Amino acid sequence: MEIETLAIHAGQEPDPNNGAVMTPIYQTSTYKQDGVGKAREGYEYSRTKNPTRLALENCLAALEGGGYGLAFSSGMAATDTVLRLIDGGDHVIAGDDVYGGTYRLFDKVLRRYGLSFNFINTTDPENIAEALTDQTKLVWLETPTNPLLSISDIHAVADILHLHPNHPLLVVDNTFATPYLQRPLQLGADIVIHSTTKYLGGHSDAVGGAVIVKDKAVYDKLAFLQNAVGAVPGPMDCFLVLRGIKTLPIRMDRHAENAWALVNFLEGQPKINRLLYPFNKSHPQVNIAKKQMRNGGGMISFIMRGGFAAAVKVAESTKLITLAESLGGVESLIEVPAAMTHLSTAGSKIAVDQGLVRLSVGIENKEDLIRDIEQALEKA
Ligand SMILES: Cc1ncc(COP(=O)(O)O)c(C=O)c1O
Repeated sequence: MEIETLAIHAGQEPDPNNGAVMTPIYQTSTYKQDGVGKAREGYEYSRTKNPTRLALENCLAALEGGGYGLAFSSGMAATDTVLRLIDGGDHVIAGDDVYGGTYRLFDKVLRRYGLSFNFINTTDPENIAEALTDQTKLVWLETPTNPLLSISDIHAVADILHLHPNHPLLVVDNTFATPYLQRPLQLGADIVIHSTTKYLGGHSDAVGGAVIVKDKAVYDKLAFLQNAVGAVPGPMDCFLVLRGIKTLPIRMDRHAENAWALVNFLEGQPKINRLLYPFNKSHPQVNIAKKQMRNGGGMISFIMRGGFAAAVKVAESTKLITLAESLGGVESLIEVPAAMTHLSTAGSKIAVDQGLVRLSVGIENKEDLIRDIEQALEKA
């Protein structure tokens, strides 16, 4: 079935007990067993297995075209659990433009456990080929990246890794694109991760994460870690993400339509130095974006000529577009990454431009959004 149908039905059968069409919120921590050690269908304890979470995990697996899905309590929890697949002494290659929280986890936490990281420009697959060492076990791609919307060629990187004797795992953070725009597993990636807090949930009302894999052996290791580490989402949050996913395809089309309208307005604005949108002709990787994504998505970044002060002025002057962290909800949000989402990269080699403004374009009326950004730019 196609993704629009999967988004509504995958993993979700009417409840066998009473026919409830919507997956019930199984708000239980434990389950009655039929005898000692005789749990029904593996339902022993909700850290290990919960029916609402299982419905979400099966839905996510179907959307990504992968075999197996696992849900987590946040995108960072999903990332952390994936990194526990490898051992101290192993080497990881990651993009130099990854989400600030991912950089913080890798650089400030996981280095302490003996992992080493190279943050490089992954938009050129040759850079990855050159950075590979005998210890490289994992390559972490974000595409499009947060916040610069850089694009890496998933297929080309997968080809390089498949030829390498270590077979390092290729992980793609698909948060910005969602499986509606891009399916990394079909392009050769081994693991997809998401912050479901963003477009999958879609309504800024739940924090969550997900991991989807093709390979049963990798899934078994991750399922063990999910239970052993325990960063699982509660059933209410799983329900909210499942409900959000039902409208993912129509939301993503509308996000992109509105983003295009704003890109057309912002293009050539004298106060803007650089405008970044994956499907825009001026984007440095527009051809790869068009090859691997269905549309350009709902995120726009731009760098103000007036630097940090101008970026802050724009972000503080919008009236309809809310000044807030996060992204991917139905409502439009604006932020200044250098002082907000990417503050943790300050002073590092992956620090973001001080004049950068990031827009998460919602699904409101596009003319209202243009009017709002126009009056904010006038004040900057
Ligand atoms: C691309 C990307 N990956 C991962 C995360 C982390 O997700 P969470 O905030 O759900 O932990 C974020 C959060 O902004 C993100 O933008």
